[in-house]
Amino acid sequence: MAILPIRTLPDPVLRQKAKRVRTIDNSIKKLVADMRETLHADAGRVGLAANQVGVSLRVTVIGIPDEEDIILINPQIVRRKGERQVTEGCLSVPDYVGQINRAETVTAKGRDLSGKEIRIKAEGLLAQALEHEIDHLNGVVYVDHLESMDDLRKIEPGDIEI
Ligand code: NI
Repeated sequence: MAILPIRTLPDPVLRQKAKRVRTIDNSIKKLVADMRETLHADAGRVGLAANQVGVSLRVTVIGIPDEEDIILINPQIVRRKGERQVTEGCLSVPDYVGQINRAETVTAKGRDLSGKEIRIKAEGLLAQALEHEIDHLNGVVYVDHLESMDDLRKIEPGDIEI
């Protein structure tokens, strides 16, 4: 396993729509292992999309504190309900956070590492992380949801980076 460097804006890989995974082979398993190690290298990290480590494939790992990691291959949002304002940061936009709107609840589906289809209904931080990571895989970064980059502020203790 290895801790991978995290790509930051304006790296073009963050703006590409990541490709679907066709086969969950050893290279995907190694990628997921490396992404998990990279995610847990810093306590403030909640999630990682593969393009953030330079791999343009639809793979994400979400690590909510004190919960088991969620690995989603070819994830997609199937339902969004409600709206709320959240403070959000991103490992690919270091040192800043901003307030954006996210859904209150999100239903997402995808496959786990064994290829089994999983469906997750989420609220709170997990719902936010699912929207954030699936945005990444579509080439979208949370700052795209701000009216202006002037709405960013410096990160403070307790802020999260997804
Ligand atoms: Ni991010």
